Amino acid sequence: MARMCGIVGYVGSQSALNVVVEGLARLEYRGYDSAGTAVAFDGKLSVTKRAGKLVNLRDALAGTQPPGGADDEAHGAHSGIGHTRWATHGPPNDRNAHPHVDCTGAVAVVHNGIIENFAALRLELERRGHELSSDTDTEAVAHLLEEEVAKGAGLADAMRKVCVRLEGAFTLVAIYSGEPDLVVGARRNSPLVVGVGDGENFLASDVAAFIAHTRDAIELGQDQIVELRPGGVTVTGFDGTPAEVKDYHVDWDVSAAEKGGHDYFMLKEIAEQPSAVADTLLGRIGADGRLSLDEMRLTDDELRDIDKIIIVACGTAYHAGMIAKYAIEHWTQLPCEIELASEFRYRDPILTRSTLVIAISQSGETMDTLMAVRHAREQRASVLGICNVNGSTIPRECDGVLYTHAGPEIAVASTKAFLTQLIAVYLIALYLAQVRGTKWGDEVFAMIQLLGTMPQKVEQVLETIEPVRELARSLAGERCVLFLGRHVGFPVALEGALKLKELAYMHAEGFAAGELKHGPIALIEEGLPVVVIVPSRARPILHDKIVSNIQEIRARGARTIVIAEDGDEAVAPYADTLIRVPAVPTLLQPLVATVPLQVFACELATAKGHDVDQPRNLAKSVTVE
Ligand code: G6P
Repeated sequence: MARMCGIVGYVGSQSALNVVVEGLARLEYRGYDSAGTAVAFDGKLSVTKRAGKLVNLRDALAGTQPPGGADDEAHGAHSGIGHTRWATHGPPNDRNAHPHVDCTGAVAVVHNGIIENFAALRLELERRGHELSSDTDTEAVAHLLEEEVAKGAGLADAMRKVCVRLEGAFTLVAIYSGEPDLVVGARRNSPLVVGVGDGENFLASDVAAFIAHTRDAIELGQDQIVELRPGGVTVTGFDGTPAEVKDYHVDWDVSAAEKGGHDYFMLKEIAEQPSAVADTLLGRIGADGRLSLDEMRLTDDELRDIDKIIIVACGTAYHAGMIAKYAIEHWTQLPCEIELASEFRYRDPILTRSTLVIAISQSGETMDTLMAVRHAREQRASVLGICNVNGSTIPRECDGVLYTHAGPEIAVASTKAFLTQLIAVYLIALYLAQVRGTKWGDEVFAMIQLLGTMPQKVEQVLETIEPVRELARSLAGERCVLFLGRHVGFPVALEGALKLKELAYMHAEGFAAGELKHGPIALIEEGLPVVVIVPSRARPILHDKIVSNIQEIRARGARTIVIAEDGDEAVAPYADTLIRVPAVPTLLQPLVATVPLQVFACELATAKGHDVDQPRNLAKSVTVE
């Protein structure tokens, strides 16, 4: 599961089913593709789960959708757990929906996060005779808990023992028929909050789920286990040592709670970028130290036969594709074209069996991109999708797919999906370099290690972003902003301009800095804000040229806003405003340089009084050509 699944747990005197389903409804905003509940009563569990929206689950629980609906008595249960799933491992269907149960049906578990070593655990469990019935990483946990409980452990001890065996990020919440007054939660790198009531207690991925019942909350720390009983809450580490509990009072209303305290989903999604990037990188290094992309259904032999790559995408995803071209050609020496999906099939592109088409789409439903995929497949090219929505149309029609694990993106303007698309294309480029032998294993490994430091670099940008906000507010009265970049900085400039158009409805253009002298420089006039993305100093030839470009536009009166890496002093004399980003390798710079531009557009649009989540005339997913 990606980090965005919704989790609810309850124990107390109310009907657990009612509280849990109501909590799931409060978490609907997170986006989901299936939902389920489990409650404990009379020494047994009742589990109900359905693909699709909550109404399907509600119908099943009301008994209008047999079989598999809840028993009548289940409605009287006083402890329960619930889940809204955003599919990552396995398509969204009833079987893969949570909760997952063990072989005996006595333990039920819900999960948010990604268990990286699930394949090895699954194999081990199957060897010991367990039958796993879903495609998820989660189900392994239910069976591991079963084994510990069978050895005589209580549910909390079982959870402690199982958690130390898991790798990756996870929030787990479980119930056990043998201890019906207990709900156990575990947290590593994925959110989980306790709601403290009077004779009842709650667990949820965020406070929105229980804010109607209590505003007293406890935030769980890393690697902690919580035991929830009607009369109290106990928190320990994975090793059983009691943990210090940090309680707080929530003063948000429900709508602020949904946005994690942010005013807009876009702000929340910008803030989530470090974890979205980290999640997309999870589980990509195999036991042999080699990069492995297990969702890729194209064989290494097929990938060795490729002689050309064409990337198709729209909007922000197209900018990710432009950046992909630089990485793919540099690392794999394969010729790579990038094309707007809406133009692709109308120009009779040359496609053969040895062409690989890569379609990038957050939603997986964009009609222009889908039609490009269909055209490529008709021409016998292989098609690889990069998508954020598991089971959506584009990945279903592709030969292979690499999912980004950004979690649902709700704001129309794409932010965290873009950064994770970049991670996906870097991974694919490195994978191709690995199987085609254009990079040594240690070079690929070193680059993967560097990618692993990116969440922290993005975090660093976000921590020092306040001056960008101030700058944006000061420019709210401007009519036009230009963006300049070279190399991978050029698509970043295009993305900065697109964000400003989408959100602030301002005239904004991105240019390749070298093209300036061939026309756009005529636009420069006194005081015109021009944002310049300066390449890393690792490639002096790029860097020196852009320093000259900054001087040219400044000499003509432009107000220069310069994005440059830490320690780059050469640009300082020519920058009216200097925005610093961490120094990273040239090809990876878009991961850090785009973030200030997202914040800039979002803040400027907000200062103009626009709703940044729902810009005028735009749709999140455009399903017409
Ligand atoms: C719409 C959205 C853009 C998005 C584009 C492609 O135009 O407003 O933000 O970049 O579609 O969407 P996709 O889901 O295919 O990435």
